[in-house]
Amino acid sequence: MYDLNYIKNKLNNEIQIDILDEIDSTNEEAKRRIANGVYEDFALVARMQTAGKGRKGRSFYSPLDTGIYLTYTHFTDDSIEDSLKTTVATSVIVKNAIKGATGLDCGIKWVNDLYLNGKKVCGILCECILKNTYDNNKNAIIIGIGINLTTSYYPEEISDKAGSIITNNDMNQDIRNDIVSYIINGLVLFFSDKGYNYIDDYRKSSIVLGKKVELSDASGIYAKGLVKDILDDGELLLLDDDNQEKVIDSGEISLIILYEHDLNF
Ligand code: BTN
Repeated sequence: MYDLNYIKNKLNNEIQIDILDEIDSTNEEAKRRIANGVYEDFALVARMQTAGKGRKGRSFYSPLDTGIYLTYTHFTDDSIEDSLKTTVATSVIVKNAIKGATGLDCGIKWVNDLYLNGKKVCGILCECILKNTYDNNKNAIIIGIGINLTTSYYPEEISDKAGSIITNNDMNQDIRNDIVSYIINGLVLFFSDKGYNYIDDYRKSSIVLGKKVELSDASGIYAKGLVKDILDDGELLLLDDDNQEKVIDSGEISLIILYEHDLNF
């Protein structure tokens, strides 16, 4: 169970944080709060979601108390154009939070899925509400993070891909509360100190760098090639079969790793 006082004691800054027993989606609840006039940064954590959302219109399986379903909303004057940077930083921040709380090292699959032992254990969905949509005079960046902590059953369609960080036997409640506070501290720091470069840490944890991959969007295969680099803003630099470089920056693309062996450049 979540312990709000424990979490707050570990936060480096005062931030509004609410723990909800049940909600459709913490991202949707964040949007409703903005529509209702909340314009200061806030965090929402839910014990379960009845309509958890994933990227590309998918759902995010969010059963009671076996995962962490967290949305952090940040208001900013900055343009939301560098949202890929936020995505990159968030995956590093969540990776570090999991490592800090459990000692476990997740890999990052572009753009922002975290993997452990070949299974996806965390997904991130960034959305935004543009300024003046309501009375908000700043853009709102809504960062939704879903972590499979101890989930042991998954619906059939995701059961071969999804995994959890730890088993129930290895779980102690500090882990859940530590992960939440480390993530919030990391995001507050990211938004207040633009100086830190997350991309180096991102590259080090990438499981696609140096791999042959296939990218697809709604209309089919979009590109295929070797991942030569991940650029400073988070775009993928691909070397296709004709040795042509291609920069990929869309977050709406699916990426499949074709071969698991490393290739050196
Ligand atoms: C993905 O893997 O496609 C992204 C999943 C994001 C899930 C989180 S859980 C908290 C927040 N609320 C939602 O409805 N979605 C995000």
